[in-house]
Amino acid sequence: MNNPTEMNGRCGIITGAASGIGQAAALYLAQMGARVALVDIDNTGLQVTASRIEGETSSRTLTFVSDATDESAANDVVTKTSTVFGSVDFLVNCAGILRKTAFLEISLEEWDLMYHVNVRGLFIYCQAVARCMVAQGSGAIVNVASLAGRSSSLLGGAHYTSAKHAIVGLSRHMARELTPKGLRVNAFCPGATLTPMVTDSTTPEEIEAVARIIPRGKWAAAEEQAAVIGFLVSDAAVNITGACIDSNGGSLMV
Ligand SMILES: NC(=O)c1ccc[n+]([C@@H]2O[C@H](COP(=O)([O-])OP(=O)(O)OC[C@H]3O[C@@H](n4cnc5c(N)ncnc54)[C@H](O)[C@@H]3O)[C@@H](O)[C@H]2O)c1
Repeated sequence: MNNPTEMNGRCGIITGAASGIGQAAALYLAQMGARVALVDIDNTGLQVTASRIEGETSSRTLTFVSDATDESAANDVVTKTSTVFGSVDFLVNCAGILRKTAFLEISLEEWDLMYHVNVRGLFIYCQAVARCMVAQGSGAIVNVASLAGRSSSLLGGAHYTSAKHAIVGLSRHMARELTPKGLRVNAFCPGATLTPMVTDSTTPEEIEAVARIIPRGKWAAAEEQAAVIGFLVSDAAVNITGACIDSNGGSLMV
């Protein structure tokens, strides 16, 4: 019997693949047998991801140094991926930014930047890839939101929380329209996860303080979140669509 979590022959796009959860998801999916197209603005990080995949698996990668908020660049990425790989079977939207500014201090510029990257960029990739998937009649999309999209966040500001709630709503609505056309669309809501996004802007004392309020008692590793993403894009999750999947060490219980 085939293992439904295997990705043999599947091809897809991962944004934010140069670092953290996106990098770990790219590696995990390649290890499961997928061919992955990696998108990020950080060329150095992208090359690290690609060479790790090539070193640890026999999987073939495509890399695109590209801003997820650029619609015409996204259309090019989807066209090239589909041409080289033959299909786009999955999309994992990981590209994102975090700001922790206090509510009273958030400027309109920072508010707009938060939505520009975390919502507009994600929408652009969802639409470009969904067009291709609807033509194929199949595909799985995972939009990385956050615990902040289910509650509010100690790690980010009100604009981050608001943008992540928008991702959850967008994903649910996409599932309503696109599931009858053969797609699955889910939001994924990680809790505190040790990646450069947080380690670059959080002191070791703050990291310890957050760990103390997580029922599991520690931050997740990016690899632990990648395994959930891998499950969601695989056939093991064939009946899961329009869902919002939490992976937060119990943080929503407290
Ligand atoms: N780390 C956490 O605790 C945590 C918790 C919940 C949700 N998330 C979400 O997970 C996702 C991945 O975060 P991470 O922790 O791995 O962070 P990270 O900073 O390690 O990775 C984010 C990646 O997105 C890329 N990126 C940013 N703007 C981009 C753009 N305009 N176009 C293309 N790429 C862009 C960055 O260059 C980086 O490589 C984000 O959406 C984040 O909000 C993270």
